Amino acid sequence: MIIDGKALASEVEAETRVRVEELAALGQRPGLATIIVGENPASAMYVRIKHSACDRVGIRSENVNLPEDAGIDEIIETIRDLNGREDVNGILLQLPLPGNRDPALAMAAIDPAKDVDGFHPFNMGSLLAGAERLVPCTPKGIIWALERLGVDLKGKEAVIVGHSNVVGKPLAAMMLNRNATVSVCHVFTRDLAAHTRKAEILVVAAGVPGLIKGDMVRPGAYVFDVGINRVEGKTVGDVEFDEALLVAAAVTPVPGGVGPLTVSMLMSQTATAAKMQEQMNER
Ligand code: GUN
Repeated sequence: MIIDGKALASEVEAETRVRVEELAALGQRPGLATIIVGENPASAMYVRIKHSACDRVGIRSENVNLPEDAGIDEIIETIRDLNGREDVNGILLQLPLPGNRDPALAMAAIDPAKDVDGFHPFNMGSLLAGAERLVPCTPKGIIWALERLGVDLKGKEAVIVGHSNVVGKPLAAMMLNRNATVSVCHVFTRDLAAHTRKAEILVVAAGVPGLIKGDMVRPGAYVFDVGINRVEGKTVGDVEFDEALLVAAAVTPVPGGVGPLTVSMLMSQTATAAKMQEQMNER
């Protein structure tokens, strides 16, 4: 089976639209502010996709474009302005920052209640401690899709390839919170295939086109391909899709798999953040 990320995302967006309109009826239409530093065309494209999704679900959106050479102080100042605005419920700093600058200080400046990416240390720590508040959107989308497909994580062998802060680490925590047995592989893993062949649920977020061949997939596995690579003018994932499809129970395509799900979860979390802020203001 091919997992239709676009169709699943439409379901999430439809639910979110209802929640957004409920808030709007109270005079609290949710708002999302994005920040791009520099002129990375991929970042600009992803942010455009996020703003289009906001339009579809009724979330107000705006973007702040900072110059390539903006210092960390300027980024933090922008974030603080947005933290203080009542009409901004979610703040998203698009990664990567130019020159591979460390985003940690900027992430820590975002009000944890507006941290719709779930990257603030408080939200990351809460997730690790088993209390999921605002969590990273790609892992949340994968967990949501598994639930929607009727796959119970409890006791399952889950293997994640890639140990990034954006996907691998938070997803491992979310899977552990659901009592899966989780292995996290990465560039220094010695025998990758030995791990992936055990996986009932395999998530690949390595950024290496064609990394996972058909013979590395366990028969009947659920395979989520988070990779987005450009190869000979085409967008491909990290999994040899056609090969995996012959072996697995289900595979996400690239494009049209994990990407749309991630964006839909950003919408959902922006509505959740707005709702949380409304409740905090009432107290
Ligand atoms: N760059 C790649 N993935 C993400 C993400 O989930 N959030 C942000 N802000 N930047 C990203």
